[in-house]
Amino acid sequence: MMKRDKFIIQGLGNKKSLSGKIRVNGAKNAVLPVMASSVLFKDGFKIKNVPLIEDLNRLDEIFKGLGVEMIKQLDGEYFINTTKINSVEIEEEASKRMRASIIFTGPILARFGELIFPHPGGCVIGARPIDLFLEGFEKMGAKVKHNDGKYFIKTKDGKLKGTKIFFKIPSVTATETFIMAGILAEGKTILKNVAIEPEIISLIEWLNDCGAKIKGVGTPVLEIEGGSLLEANDKVYETIPDRLEAGSFLILGALCASDLEISNCNPSHLEIVIEMLKDSGVDIEVGKDYLKVNNKNLKNYKSFSIKTHEYPGFPTDLQSPTVVFLTQSQGESLVFETIFEGRLNYTSDLVKMGADIKMWDSHRATIKGPKQLKGCELEGPDIRTGFAFVIAALVAEKESIITNVYYIDRGYGSIEKRLFKIGADIKRVKE
Ligand code: UD1
Repeated sequence: MMKRDKFIIQGLGNKKSLSGKIRVNGAKNAVLPVMASSVLFKDGFKIKNVPLIEDLNRLDEIFKGLGVEMIKQLDGEYFINTTKINSVEIEEEASKRMRASIIFTGPILARFGELIFPHPGGCVIGARPIDLFLEGFEKMGAKVKHNDGKYFIKTKDGKLKGTKIFFKIPSVTATETFIMAGILAEGKTILKNVAIEPEIISLIEWLNDCGAKIKGVGTPVLEIEGGSLLEANDKVYETIPDRLEAGSFLILGALCASDLEISNCNPSHLEIVIEMLKDSGVDIEVGKDYLKVNNKNLKNYKSFSIKTHEYPGFPTDLQSPTVVFLTQSQGESLVFETIFEGRLNYTSDLVKMGADIKMWDSHRATIKGPKQLKGCELEGPDIRTGFAFVIAALVAEKESIITNVYYIDRGYGSIEKRLFKIGADIKRVKE
């Protein structure tokens, strides 16, 4: 059963502010593909700086279904052992709740020549089709059957065949899936128009460290020479900092903190967000592995327009926190969500709080600011918007209740404790 906890948040209403230091966790979107890559390994490996988030429980459920052991060694450190893997089916419940479960398809099919998986679910942010995955596997010589809500995929003689795949859309998880599929395929796999998010680069570097032959890292064309199972020996994967968490905290600090240090992050992964906020008037100090931000110029923030884009463009995952920022800036801005069509629906909740937002269609909205927000009852629809609501609730006057905290927990570990430490009045009510 999905937990239905709530957050009760007392708004700061511009009268109080947050201050202190908040540490950024390891990136969820890096942990998921690296954990899935374990299926390509002869031995196991250790992974460090793993965030304590709900999605880890989904990963564990998928691993259990496959016969893979995920052994906790210390807080944030796990050993993944795939030597006893005995199933080619991705567990249904976990898969329905976490779309990224699809990343397992590539390694399983490449290793065993067979795969069964349900249509994946996840956050409610649009249709989220899987055509790129199915078409790619067919191009690599597999046969796809769909029966009773499940996909049954089989290769001819137990092996995927290297081929050329051009992605119509540079999808993050499709890129990761086919990189991993190519590692155990026969011959060379060439992937064109791939995504280049930092989590993908980190995955490739890890795989190459362990014996994979992937060329073109950081460019839109990758060449993967198929080979045998990877070996980590004593190598450990160190999870890169979560740029989306860091970006969320940066926006929180720009609106609500007299001084906030965001530690253990990689600002070079957040350049566009930092540029936009600085241009708007936010005082940000950019360190090598930290950011410092405050809200002293809050009254004079200028509005700006954004268009979400694949990396290094403006991340769709920071679109909703940015909209909260824009409700507090001077003037009108246009937000053009190009990646997911369901990702602006939450703006009606900000309107209930007093924001002036007009949604023109499922991809575009205009925001006029500044407007004082008022506390409200809000239901978090996805991970990032759940956190955007936390920011809005802190900006607002009076109390807000955020339901469906499960989504926030999927991406932000123990967030109420971390926010409490910097002065937020936030309580979890368990149900
Ligand atoms: C990843 C991230 C997610 C982020 C998103 C966009 C992970 C685990 N999740 O999700 O946090 O919001 O990138 O940066 O890394 N598409 C198709 N057909 C497909 C696959 C995708 O049309 O077969 C479309 C999607 O509907 C979407 C676009 O491609 O419009 C990009 O999505 P994609 O990059 O695949 O997102 P995810 O990998 O699911």
